[in-house]
Amino acid sequence: MIQENISLKPYNTFGIDVQAKRFTQVDAIPALKKLIQTFPDEPYFILSGGSNMLLTQDIEQLVIKLDFKGIKIIKEDEAFVWVESQASEVWHDFVQWTLTRDYGGLENLSLIPGHVGTTPVQNIGAYGVEIKDTMVSCKALNIDTLAIEEFSNAACQFGYRESIFKKEAKDRYIILSVVYRLTKKNHVLRTNYGVINSELERMGVVTPTIQDISRAVIAIRSSKLPNPAELGNSGSFFKNPIVSKAVFETLLKKYPTLPYYTIDEEHIKIPAGWLIETSGYKGYRIGDAGVHSKQALVLVNYGNAQGIELKKLAETIQNEIFNIFAIHLEAEVNIF
Ligand code: EPU
Repeated sequence: MIQENISLKPYNTFGIDVQAKRFTQVDAIPALKKLIQTFPDEPYFILSGGSNMLLTQDIEQLVIKLDFKGIKIIKEDEAFVWVESQASEVWHDFVQWTLTRDYGGLENLSLIPGHVGTTPVQNIGAYGVEIKDTMVSCKALNIDTLAIEEFSNAACQFGYRESIFKKEAKDRYIILSVVYRLTKKNHVLRTNYGVINSELERMGVVTPTIQDISRAVIAIRSSKLPNPAELGNSGSFFKNPIVSKAVFETLLKKYPTLPYYTIDEEHIKIPAGWLIETSGYKGYRIGDAGVHSKQALVLVNYGNAQGIELKKLAETIQNEIFNIFAIHLEAEVNIF
Protein backbone atom coordinates (compact mmCIF):
# COMPACT_ATOMS: atom_id res chain seq x y z
CA MET A 1 0.00 0.00 0.00
CA ILE A 2 1.31 3.44 -0.91
CA GLN A 3 0.64 6.11 1.70
CA GLU A 4 0.72 9.81 0.87
CA ASN A 5 2.25 12.78 2.69
CA ILE A 6 3.88 10.88 5.53
CA SER A 7 6.17 12.69 7.97
CA LEU A 8 9.64 11.13 8.00
CA LYS A 9 10.40 12.47 11.49
CA PRO A 10 10.11 9.04 13.17
CA TYR A 11 12.26 7.46 10.45
CA ASN A 12 15.46 9.52 10.72
CA THR A 13 17.59 9.72 13.85
CA PHE A 14 18.20 13.47 13.33
CA GLY A 15 14.43 13.80 13.89
CA ILE A 16 13.95 16.10 10.89
CA ASP A 17 10.33 16.72 9.99
CA VAL A 18 10.07 16.48 6.21
CA GLN A 19 7.36 14.73 4.24
CA ALA A 20 7.47 11.78 1.92
CA LYS A 21 5.04 12.47 -0.92
CA ARG A 22 4.60 8.68 -1.26
CA PHE A 23 5.70 6.10 1.28
CA THR A 24 5.55 2.33 1.47
CA GLN A 25 6.99 -0.44 3.57
CA VAL A 26 8.13 -3.87 2.32
CA ASP A 27 9.05 -6.96 4.31
CA ALA A 28 9.65 -9.60 1.64
CA ILE A 29 11.67 -9.90 -1.57
CA PRO A 30 8.71 -10.77 -3.87
CA ALA A 31 6.84 -7.69 -2.63
CA LEU A 32 9.91 -5.52 -3.23
CA LYS A 33 10.33 -6.87 -6.76
CA LYS A 34 6.64 -6.34 -7.49
CA LEU A 35 6.84 -2.77 -6.24
CA ILE A 36 9.77 -2.02 -8.53
CA GLN A 37 7.93 -3.64 -11.46
CA THR A 38 4.86 -1.51 -10.72
CA PHE A 39 6.92 1.71 -10.66
CA PRO A 40 9.70 0.79 -13.09
CA ASP A 41 11.07 4.16 -14.12
CA GLU A 42 11.14 5.86 -10.76
CA PRO A 43 14.12 6.93 -8.74
CA TYR A 44 13.47 5.36 -5.33
CA PHE A 45 14.44 6.58 -1.92
CA ILE A 46 15.47 3.55 0.12
CA LEU A 47 14.99 4.05 3.82
CA SER A 48 16.68 1.77 6.31
CA GLY A 49 17.53 2.81 9.89
CA GLY A 50 17.70 6.50 8.90
CA SER A 51 20.77 6.93 11.09
CA ASN A 52 23.21 8.32 8.57
CA MET A 53 21.18 10.92 6.72
CA LEU A 54 20.30 14.58 6.91
CA LEU A 55 17.00 15.40 5.20
CA THR A 56 16.80 18.99 4.00
CA GLN A 57 13.63 18.87 1.92
CA ASP A 58 10.46 16.89 1.25
CA ILE A 59 11.17 13.68 -0.62
CA GLU A 60 9.62 13.58 -4.09
CA GLN A 61 10.71 10.02 -4.89
CA LEU A 62 8.78 6.97 -3.76
CA VAL A 63 10.14 6.21 -0.27
CA ILE A 64 10.60 2.47 0.30
CA LYS A 65 11.07 1.58 3.94
CA LEU A 66 12.72 -1.82 4.27
CA ASP A 67 11.55 -4.25 6.91
CA PHE A 68 13.49 -7.47 6.30
CA LYS A 69 13.93 -9.39 9.55
CA GLY A 70 15.62 -12.62 10.60
CA ILE A 71 18.96 -13.98 11.78
CA LYS A 72 20.27 -17.46 11.06
CA ILE A 73 23.40 -19.54 11.24
CA ILE A 74 24.26 -20.72 7.76
CA LYS A 75 27.44 -22.66 8.42
CA GLU A 76 29.88 -23.52 11.18
CA ASP A 77 33.05 -25.42 11.89
CA GLU A 78 35.19 -25.93 14.99
CA ALA A 79 36.43 -22.38 15.12
CA PHE A 80 33.98 -20.17 13.26
CA VAL A 81 30.29 -19.54 12.70
CA TRP A 82 28.80 -17.85 9.64
CA VAL A 83 25.75 -15.80 10.61
CA GLU A 84 23.38 -14.24 8.11
CA SER A 85 21.22 -11.32 9.17
CA GLN A 86 18.47 -9.76 7.10
CA ALA A 87 18.97 -6.07 6.33
CA SER A 88 16.48 -4.50 8.70
CA GLU A 89 17.65 -6.05 11.95
CA VAL A 90 18.75 -3.30 14.35
CA TRP A 91 22.54 -3.45 14.35
CA HIS A 92 23.05 -3.23 18.11
CA ASP A 93 20.43 -5.92 18.76
CA PHE A 94 22.18 -8.14 16.23
CA VAL A 95 25.53 -7.56 17.96
CA GLN A 96 23.93 -8.51 21.30
CA TRP A 97 22.44 -11.64 19.67
CA THR A 98 25.97 -12.73 18.68
CA LEU A 99 27.42 -11.94 22.12
CA THR A 100 24.71 -13.89 23.94
CA ARG A 101 25.88 -16.94 21.97
CA ASP A 102 29.54 -16.07 22.66
CA TYR A 103 30.39 -15.36 19.03
CA GLY A 104 33.28 -12.93 18.75
CA GLY A 105 34.15 -10.18 16.28
CA LEU A 106 31.49 -7.51 16.55
CA GLU A 107 31.84 -6.50 20.22
CA ASN A 108 33.80 -3.30 19.48
CA LEU A 109 30.95 -2.21 17.21
CA SER A 110 28.33 -2.27 19.99
CA LEU A 111 25.78 0.55 20.14
CA ILE A 112 26.38 1.87 16.63
CA PRO A 113 23.00 3.11 15.45
CA GLY A 114 21.40 1.84 12.25
CA HIS A 115 20.39 -1.42 10.61
CA VAL A 116 22.48 -4.39 9.48
CA GLY A 117 21.90 -3.67 5.78
CA THR A 118 23.72 -0.37 5.86
CA THR A 119 26.83 -1.66 7.63
CA PRO A 120 28.59 -2.56 4.36
CA VAL A 121 27.62 0.71 2.69
CA GLN A 122 29.91 2.82 4.79
CA ASN A 123 32.02 0.05 6.31
CA ILE A 124 31.03 1.07 9.83
CA GLY A 125 33.86 1.18 12.30
CA ALA A 126 34.75 1.99 15.88
CA TYR A 127 37.55 1.33 18.38
CA GLY A 128 39.95 -0.23 15.91
CA VAL A 129 37.44 -2.54 14.19
CA GLU A 130 35.59 -2.19 10.89
CA ILE A 131 32.85 -4.31 9.39
CA LYS A 132 35.23 -5.40 6.65
CA ASP A 133 37.12 -7.46 9.28
CA THR A 134 34.26 -9.95 9.71
CA MET A 135 31.93 -9.46 6.74
CA VAL A 136 32.01 -12.36 4.30
CA SER A 137 29.43 -11.26 1.76
CA CYS A 138 26.12 -9.53 1.26
CA LYS A 139 23.16 -10.10 -1.02
CA ALA A 140 21.66 -7.19 -2.89
CA LEU A 141 18.81 -6.69 -5.31
CA ASN A 142 19.85 -5.15 -8.60
CA ILE A 143 17.17 -2.52 -9.19
CA ASP A 144 17.53 -2.64 -13.00
CA THR A 145 17.53 -6.40 -13.55
CA LEU A 146 15.74 -7.52 -10.34
CA ALA A 147 18.44 -10.19 -9.96
CA ILE A 148 19.80 -10.92 -6.52
CA GLU A 149 23.56 -10.54 -6.64
CA GLU A 150 26.13 -11.58 -4.09
CA PHE A 151 29.01 -9.25 -3.23
CA SER A 152 32.07 -10.82 -1.62
CA ASN A 153 34.11 -8.83 0.88
CA ALA A 154 36.62 -7.97 -1.87
CA ALA A 155 33.86 -6.96 -4.30
CA CYS A 156 32.62 -4.41 -1.75
CA GLN A 157 35.90 -2.43 -2.21
CA PHE A 158 35.99 -1.36 1.42
CA GLY A 159 37.90 1.70 2.56
CA TYR A 160 37.62 4.11 5.49
CA ARG A 161 33.84 4.69 5.64
CA GLU A 162 33.77 3.72 1.95
CA SER A 163 32.51 0.91 -0.26
CA ILE A 164 31.31 0.23 -3.80
CA PHE A 165 27.78 1.08 -2.55
CA LYS A 166 28.85 4.72 -2.16
CA LYS A 167 30.52 4.72 -5.58
CA GLU A 168 29.57 2.91 -8.80
CA ALA A 169 26.90 0.73 -7.15
CA LYS A 170 25.21 3.75 -5.51
CA ASP A 171 21.42 3.81 -6.03
CA ARG A 172 21.62 0.64 -8.14
CA TYR A 173 21.23 -1.96 -5.40
CA ILE A 174 19.16 -2.64 -2.32
CA ILE A 175 21.09 -4.66 0.26
CA LEU A 176 18.94 -7.53 1.53
CA SER A 177 21.16 -9.47 3.92
CA VAL A 178 24.72 -9.68 5.21
CA VAL A 179 26.88 -12.64 6.30
CA TYR A 180 29.55 -12.27 9.01
CA ARG A 181 32.12 -14.86 10.02
CA LEU A 182 32.56 -14.84 13.80
CA THR A 183 34.80 -16.73 16.18
CA LYS A 184 33.41 -19.49 18.42
CA LYS A 185 36.56 -19.74 20.54
CA ASN A 186 40.01 -18.14 20.87
CA HIS A 187 38.35 -14.76 20.44
CA VAL A 188 40.67 -12.00 19.29
CA LEU A 189 40.26 -9.18 21.80
CA ARG A 190 40.84 -5.75 20.36
CA THR A 191 41.56 -3.56 23.36
CA ASN A 192 44.47 -1.61 21.93
CA TYR A 193 42.31 1.49 21.61
CA GLY A 194 43.40 3.37 24.74
CA VAL A 195 39.94 4.25 26.01
CA ILE A 196 38.83 0.60 26.02
CA ASN A 197 41.65 -0.44 28.30
CA SER A 198 41.05 2.38 30.73
CA GLU A 199 37.30 1.69 30.78
CA LEU A 200 37.94 -2.04 31.46
CA GLU A 201 40.27 -1.02 34.30
CA ARG A 202 37.62 1.29 35.70
CA MET A 203 35.15 -1.61 35.53
CA GLY A 204 37.62 -3.75 37.51
CA VAL A 205 38.01 -6.28 34.68
CA VAL A 206 41.39 -8.01 34.59
CA THR A 207 40.89 -10.73 31.95
CA PRO A 208 38.23 -9.31 29.64
CA THR A 209 35.71 -11.38 27.67
CA ILE A 210 34.08 -10.19 24.45
CA GLN A 211 31.00 -9.33 26.53
CA ASP A 212 33.18 -7.14 28.81
CA ILE A 213 34.53 -5.32 25.76
CA SER A 214 30.99 -4.71 24.56
CA ARG A 215 30.05 -3.32 28.00
CA ALA A 216 33.12 -1.06 27.95
CA VAL A 217 32.28 0.22 24.46
CA ILE A 218 28.66 0.85 25.51
CA ALA A 219 29.89 2.84 28.53
CA ILE A 220 32.33 4.90 26.44
CA ARG A 221 29.82 5.62 23.68
CA SER A 222 27.03 6.49 26.12
CA SER A 223 29.27 8.98 27.89
CA LYS A 224 30.22 10.87 24.71
CA LEU A 225 27.67 10.24 22.01
CA PRO A 226 24.10 11.48 22.39
CA ASN A 227 21.28 8.92 22.29
CA PRO A 228 19.20 9.74 19.18
CA ALA A 229 16.03 8.91 21.12
CA GLU A 230 16.85 11.85 23.42
CA LEU A 231 18.76 14.23 21.15
CA GLY A 232 18.51 13.99 17.37
CA ASN A 233 21.83 13.20 15.68
CA SER A 234 23.49 11.03 13.05
CA GLY A 235 26.71 10.06 14.83
CA SER A 236 29.89 11.47 13.34
CA PHE A 237 28.79 14.12 10.87
CA PHE A 238 32.19 14.40 9.17
CA LYS A 239 34.87 11.91 8.23
CA ASN A 240 38.23 12.23 9.94
CA PRO A 241 40.39 13.88 7.25
CA ILE A 242 43.43 12.06 5.93
CA VAL A 243 46.31 14.44 5.19
CA SER A 244 49.82 14.12 3.79
CA LYS A 245 52.75 13.75 6.16
CA ALA A 246 54.02 17.21 5.16
CA VAL A 247 50.72 18.89 6.05
CA PHE A 248 50.62 16.94 9.31
CA GLU A 249 54.14 17.96 10.33
CA THR A 250 53.43 21.63 9.73
CA LEU A 251 50.30 21.33 11.88
CA LEU A 252 52.08 19.44 14.63
CA LYS A 253 54.67 22.23 14.97
CA LYS A 254 51.88 24.69 15.61
CA TYR A 255 49.73 22.35 17.72
CA PRO A 256 52.04 19.95 19.61
CA THR A 257 49.08 18.19 21.30
CA LEU A 258 47.41 17.31 17.99
CA PRO A 259 46.06 13.72 18.22
CA TYR A 260 46.56 11.57 15.11
CA TYR A 261 46.55 8.04 13.67
CA THR A 262 49.21 6.95 11.21
CA ILE A 263 47.64 5.37 8.12
CA ASP A 264 50.81 4.60 6.18
CA GLU A 265 54.22 6.18 5.49
CA GLU A 266 52.64 9.07 3.62
CA HIS A 267 49.26 9.59 5.25
CA ILE A 268 47.98 10.63 8.66
CA LYS A 269 44.38 10.70 9.89
CA ILE A 270 43.47 13.68 12.06
CA PRO A 271 40.38 13.65 14.29
CA ALA A 272 37.83 16.09 12.89
CA GLY A 273 36.43 16.36 16.45
CA TRP A 274 39.73 17.88 17.58
CA LEU A 275 39.81 20.33 14.65
CA ILE A 276 36.23 21.43 15.39
CA GLU A 277 36.88 21.75 19.13
CA THR A 278 40.07 23.73 18.50
CA SER A 279 38.20 26.06 16.17
CA GLY A 280 35.86 26.86 19.08
CA TYR A 281 32.69 25.18 17.81
CA LYS A 282 32.26 22.46 20.43
CA GLY A 283 28.93 23.11 22.18
CA TYR A 284 28.03 25.87 19.67
CA ARG A 285 24.31 26.29 19.06
CA ILE A 286 22.30 28.36 16.60
CA GLY A 287 18.54 27.97 17.00
CA ASP A 288 17.94 24.27 17.45
CA ALA A 289 21.00 23.21 15.43
CA GLY A 290 24.16 22.55 17.40
CA VAL A 291 27.52 20.89 17.88
CA HIS A 292 27.43 18.30 20.66
CA SER A 293 29.09 19.51 23.86
CA LYS A 294 30.86 16.19 24.56
CA GLN A 295 31.95 15.17 21.03
CA ALA A 296 32.44 17.94 18.48
CA LEU A 297 32.17 15.56 15.53
CA VAL A 298 28.46 15.10 16.21
CA LEU A 299 25.88 17.67 15.10
CA VAL A 300 22.63 17.65 17.06
CA ASN A 301 19.02 18.70 16.65
CA TYR A 302 17.79 20.22 19.91
CA GLY A 303 14.17 19.78 18.83
CA ASN A 304 12.85 21.57 15.80
CA ALA A 305 15.93 22.27 13.69
CA GLN A 306 15.32 22.06 9.98
CA GLY A 307 17.67 20.02 7.84
CA ILE A 308 18.73 23.13 6.00
CA GLU A 309 19.81 24.78 9.27
CA LEU A 310 21.99 21.80 10.16
CA LYS A 311 23.40 21.81 6.63
CA LYS A 312 24.26 25.51 6.97
CA LEU A 313 25.93 24.85 10.32
CA ALA A 314 27.96 22.05 8.72
CA GLU A 315 29.05 24.41 5.92
CA THR A 316 30.01 27.11 8.39
CA ILE A 317 32.19 24.58 10.23
CA GLN A 318 33.73 23.32 6.96
CA ASN A 319 34.62 26.91 5.95
CA GLU A 320 36.02 27.72 9.37
CA ILE A 321 38.19 24.58 9.46
CA PHE A 322 39.43 25.34 5.96
CA ASN A 323 40.32 28.92 6.93
CA ILE A 324 42.17 27.89 10.07
CA PHE A 325 43.83 24.60 9.07
CA ALA A 326 43.54 24.54 5.23
CA ILE A 327 41.87 21.12 5.60
CA HIS A 328 38.62 20.18 3.86
CA LEU A 329 36.17 18.29 6.07
CA GLU A 330 34.03 15.88 4.12
CA ALA A 331 30.54 15.01 5.38
CA GLU A 332 30.13 11.38 6.41
CA VAL A 333 26.36 11.69 6.61
CA ASN A 334 24.35 11.58 3.36
CA ILE A 335 22.61 14.88 2.73
CA PHE A 336 19.34 14.90 0.76
N1 EPU B 1 38.51 14.87 20.10
C1 EPU B 1 38.58 16.17 20.54
N2 EPU B 1 37.41 16.85 20.70
C2 EPU B 1 36.21 16.30 20.45
C3 EPU B 1 36.14 14.98 19.97
C4 EPU B 1 37.33 14.27 19.81
O1 EPU B 1 39.65 16.70 20.79
O2 EPU B 1 35.21 16.99 20.64
C5 EPU B 1 39.75 14.09 20.00
C6 EPU B 1 39.80 13.08 21.13
O3 EPU B 1 40.37 13.61 22.27
C7 EPU B 1 40.65 11.98 20.55
C8 EPU B 1 40.34 12.05 19.07
O4 EPU B 1 39.75 13.32 18.83
O5 EPU B 1 42.01 12.26 20.73
C9 EPU B 1 39.44 10.94 18.61
O6 EPU B 1 38.19 10.99 19.26
P1 EPU B 1 37.23 9.71 19.43
O7 EPU B 1 38.01 8.57 19.97
O8 EPU B 1 36.02 10.16 20.14
O9 EPU B 1 36.88 9.26 17.97
P2 EPU B 1 36.61 10.08 16.61
O10 EPU B 1 37.81 9.97 15.74
O11 EPU B 1 36.08 11.41 16.91
C10 EPU B 1 35.79 7.94 15.31
C11 EPU B 1 34.58 7.51 14.52
C12 EPU B 1 33.43 7.18 15.45
C13 EPU B 1 33.88 6.06 16.38
C14 EPU B 1 35.11 6.54 17.15
C15 EPU B 1 35.71 5.48 18.05
C16 EPU B 1 34.77 8.64 12.37
C17 EPU B 1 34.23 9.69 11.47
N3 EPU B 1 34.21 8.54 13.57
O12 EPU B 1 35.44 9.16 15.96
O13 EPU B 1 32.34 6.71 14.65
O14 EPU B 1 32.84 5.70 17.27
O15 EPU B 1 36.16 6.92 16.22
O16 EPU B 1 36.39 4.56 17.28
O17 EPU B 1 35.67 7.91 11.97
C18 EPU B 1 30.32 7.33 13.55
O18 EPU B 1 30.87 7.01 12.50
O19 EPU B 1 29.13 7.76 13.59
C19 EPU B 1 31.08 7.24 14.80
C20 EPU B 1 30.57 7.65 15.96
